Order: sequence, then C-alpha cells, then structure tokens
Amino acid sequence: MAKTSLLTTGLNGLVGSKLAQVYADQYDFSNLDISHPTQPTDITNYDQVLAAFENSPAEWVVHFAAFTDVTAAWQQTGDKNGPAYKVNVVGTQNIVKAAEITHKKIIHLSTAFVFDGKKTDLYTESDTPQPIEWYGQTKLEAEQVVQNSQSPWCILRIDFPFRSDAFPRPDIVRKTVANIDKGYPLFTDHHFGPTYIDDFVKVIDWVIRTNQTGLFHASNGESWTDFDFATAIVKAQQLRKEIKSGSLAEYLKTTNRPYQQNTALDCSKLIKAIDFALTPINEALTKVQL
Ligand SMILES: NC(=O)c1ccc[n+]([C@@H]2O[C@H](COP(=O)([O-])OP(=O)(O)OC[C@H]3O[C@@H](n4cnc5c(N)ncnc54)[C@H](OP(=O)(O)O)[C@@H]3O)[C@@H](O)[C@H]2O)c1
Repeated sequence: MAKTSLLTTGLNGLVGSKLAQVYADQYDFSNLDISHPTQPTDITNYDQVLAAFENSPAEWVVHFAAFTDVTAAWQQTGDKNGPAYKVNVVGTQNIVKAAEITHKKIIHLSTAFVFDGKKTDLYTESDTPQPIEWYGQTKLEAEQVVQNSQSPWCILRIDFPFRSDAFPRPDIVRKTVANIDKGYPLFTDHHFGPTYIDDFVKVIDWVIRTNQTGLFHASNGESWTDFDFATAIVKAQQLRKEIKSGSLAEYLKTTNRPYQQNTALDCSKLIKAIDFALTPINEALTKVQL
C-alpha cells in the first residue's frame, strides 16, 4: 500500500519520534527539522515554513514542535522576543498561516498546563484555561491561534507523557525513578494524568484516518499522585527501592516558580470516540523498558 504523506514539526522530539517509529511503514514523513545538517527549517521563520508546506503533498500537518522546558520558559515570563514565545506562539502562527495558504489540516499538540491546576477533579474540554506560568500561557495563545484558523484543526492536549522505550530526553517515568534514586520526596498532593505515548500516537493516526476536528483531552483519563505513580513503577518493574513521600504545598513555600497542583485530564470525549482501547497506566508501566 502506498504511504500517506504527512508533514510534521518536532518529529525528533520525545512524542513525535514515537509516531515516526511506529508508523514508518504507513506514513511518508516530511519534517520541518531545525537540526537538519544541511537544510534546517526553523518554524519561527515564515518563509522557510511556507516553502516546506508548498513542497509537500500532505493533507495534514502534525505540529509537535514547541519550547518545552517549563522552568526555562518561566525565566522568560513576559518576553515576547524570548525563544519560548517565539517557538510556541510565532511558530504556531507561521504553521497556521502556511496551512491556510496550502489548504492543509492541522493537528496541534497542547498541554494540560493551560489550566491553573486549582480544580480538585479532572479537567474537561469545557473548563476555562487559566495558565499560571509562561509555558502554559504561550501554549494557550498557540491554541487560540489554531482555533481561529480557516483550516480544519484538531487540538490534542496531553499531560506528563512517557513511552515504553528509552529516549535521550527522560520522560516522567524515567524522571520519577531518578528522583526515587536521589532520595527526593515524591508528592502525595500533586495530581497529574500520565499519557502513554505508545497509545497517544494511535490517537494521532485515528484523527487522520477518521478526519477528526475539534479539541480533545488525550492522556488516558486517569489521575495519579507522584507518590502513587512512583509506587506503581516500583511494583510494575519489580524494583527494590524505598520511596520517600513529600508535599507540593510544603515545597511551594520554598520557591517562586509556580506549579499546577492538578493537571489530570478527563478523556471521556476521546475514549467514547476512538475505535481502540487505551492501555491502563498500571499495565503500561509493565511495558516500560527502563
Ligand atoms: N513533554 C511533555 O511533558 C509534554 C506535556 C504536554 C504537552 N506536550 C506537548 O507535546 C508536544 C511535543 O513535546 P515533546 O515532549 O515531544 O517535545 P521535545 O522532546 O522538547 O521536542 C520538541 C521538538 O521541537 C523541535 N523544535 C524546537 N524549536 C523548533 C524550531 N524553532 N523550529 C523547528 N523545530 C523546533 C525540536 O527540534 P530539535 O530536537 O532538533 O531541537 C524537537 O524536535 C509539544 O507541543 C509539547 O508542548 C509535551
């Protein structure tokens, strides 16, 4: 079967590289790659973006690329000339403009960090975003740019992703194991919704196959504390490790850097719509090769 052309940004990142790995036989990927040795494409440069779009027969662009270092972004708060704003907002404006001109549909990756983290329950698609730090702010502005697009769009929000195989940039499972090993306390009052990347790439394929549009929360709908997640990793991986418990509320007294206390996403809209089952997190943790 002929491969489907797919235009992407950020395909070498933690999440995008899994799509490239799993769907190598199905999609013919063309990535706007800032690290390309001879022909780099920077999404903050509109002319480069438009040229890449004009050269691609793809119907869809999957926009993974982002400035994802949340602490570094916080240090740029308010700076619209800083790399976080330029990559996340200006880069997305360029992608959207080029998609409109070349009639491509957009899949945009977003984050639960658009919320303030004060809700005690899971966040749904109808909850109002209210970012509390610069990364979340820039990602929310990017969402708004996509939502105002003339091109058909689908926004997928995820939270703390992890994958079965190891990747050079550590994900939440590898970071948690490193934190246990360092003897750091794992919070019992911080809640999040881990996203199993091996499943999430199937969601992206489903969006393309079934021509979905709109906003979806796309982790897997579960809510975990850091401490319970660490305990589940140790159990699933049969590790002999002591886990220290701690409190985010206490930690927040020692730092100015804001942290959302809860970013777990309600994914019932997605789960009702997809034609495959998401893996429960406890089971996904047994598939991880540390
Ligand atoms: N990781 C998370 O915890 C998390 C959580 C929620 C949502 N998300 C969202 O999921 C998406 C993917 O995240 P990820 O973790 O896979 O990111 P990542 O590993 O940090 O990768 C980001 C990618 O963007 C590329 N990039 C950065 N600046 C660029 C530019 N100016 N032009 C072109 N490409 C550029 C990078 O290229 P190089 O590698 O060549 O520098 C890299 O491939 C992002 O939209 C992120 O906001 C991530």
